Amino acid sequence: MPRVADGNITPIVFMEFSVAGSSIDIIQELSAVLTPEQVAIDRASLETYGQDWTRFTPPAPTAIVFPRDTADVVAVVECARRCQFALVPSGGRTGLSGGACAANGEVVVSMDKINAISPVNLTDRTVTVGAGAITQNVQQTARDADLFYPVDFASSGSSQIGGNIATNAGGINVIRYGMTRDWVAGLTVVTGKGEVLELNKGLMKNNTGLDFRHLFIGSEGILGFITEATLKLTAPPKDPTVLVLGLSDMNAIMAVLDRIQSTTPLLAYEFFSELAVSKVADHAGVARPFDTHTPFYALVEFERENDMTDAHVFEAIEQCMEEGWVIDAVMSQSVAQARALWQLREDISETISKWTPYKNDISSTVSKVPELLTAVDDVVHENYPDWEVVWYGHIGDGNLHLNILKPEHLQIEAFKARCSEVSTDIFNAIKTLGGSVSAEHGVGTLKAPYLGYSKSDSEIDAMRAIKAIFDPDGILNPGKVFSIA
Ligand code: MLT
Ligand code: ZN
Repeated sequence: MPRVADGNITPIVFMEFSVAGSSIDIIQELSAVLTPEQVAIDRASLETYGQDWTRFTPPAPTAIVFPRDTADVVAVVECARRCQFALVPSGGRTGLSGGACAANGEVVVSMDKINAISPVNLTDRTVTVGAGAITQNVQQTARDADLFYPVDFASSGSSQIGGNIATNAGGINVIRYGMTRDWVAGLTVVTGKGEVLELNKGLMKNNTGLDFRHLFIGSEGILGFITEATLKLTAPPKDPTVLVLGLSDMNAIMAVLDRIQSTTPLLAYEFFSELAVSKVADHAGVARPFDTHTPFYALVEFERENDMTDAHVFEAIEQCMEEGWVIDAVMSQSVAQARALWQLREDISETISKWTPYKNDISSTVSKVPELLTAVDDVVHENYPDWEVVWYGHIGDGNLHLNILKPEHLQIEAFKARCSEVSTDIFNAIKTLGGSVSAEHGVGTLKAPYLGYSKSDSEIDAMRAIKAIFDPDGILNPGKVFSIA
């Protein structure tokens, strides 16, 4: 079992300790502070709970624990402090940056059993949920109360609210509704000292100094474990309608966005490449939007706010066609058609997962997206002339997902090494643009070596100092966010 030197928060310390020896003691300790049924050490559980969707790190946790409430989490943290072992929080494990991987004998703390959803508070327009509540169940609970929880993404059927908050998840509606951060009214967290903090308590107005809620949102489990959240809800959008547009080239992507949103407020503006469409059409059976093949596609979702909306949209598309930016277009006429068109975008990630993609999740300000796309395109042409590179993303938010597919003949380590090398060219371009090396997937282990491309040394020092306050023993999610080099 890896142990931690007193007061040392540098994750490398964990890596140096061997797993052998004391693991049986740890399991006994955990079984005593919880119940034996809440501690799993079977191979299937260790493999399942020891990794997320990143798939680059072989899972090797010592045990998985299943707390039932905040008090159980406190008991686990106190046990870890006393026995000096490391903890990794685990939600739906849909993360793509290795933030929930346990590869070094850590104990995984699964939030699966802390999943209650309280009745919607119609006056406050909030819902209070356990960290393990599945995103889709929260969305449905809001819908049942004629309200709307707008954070949404392809993995909402398995991702958990605690994980969404810990990674400040984005998704497909950010252009209209913002990130998870914008929807958190209150948080219960257990710090690395075993203290329980009730942050903001669901208040709409609360100007009482520093708002620690926002420190914990997006902190990837390095400061504390979220056990409960109060989420804001809003009115559902009216008659959401989807357009898929075939675009002439990369330059058309933002020109079309500018033109459409000058008259029509958007719910989503996504883009994807022809290779992405061919993958979902050939491997997931998703119908192409039209017969025409174009280099890029945009998926636009808008709300039919009033009788003029359609006219505005048609006029914008006509102009975009006259300019030569849009080659072909299709618009949904029903909820079922809208869903089918969304599959073109939402099925990409899962479809390409069998090629073990190396993921870049990068961003710039929206106005700098044309420069971002050009810079990244140059790097791709120069470095991956023969590899399959799948482009997609929430481009209306300035967020590009660049996925390099592993050529079959290449071993995973060699592939990763090659991609990491090229990433530095991409990240240099991002740094010049003042962009981010992780727009929405988080830093985890994969992007930790590159944090310096988006954050200054002073900011990283301050982040480490803040971690030391909430997690003085360095037991929470070691090796994540900060580089261990
Ligand atoms: C998406 O936008 O589809 C998700 O962020 C997952 C991914 O990037 O593959
Ligand atoms: Zn995304």
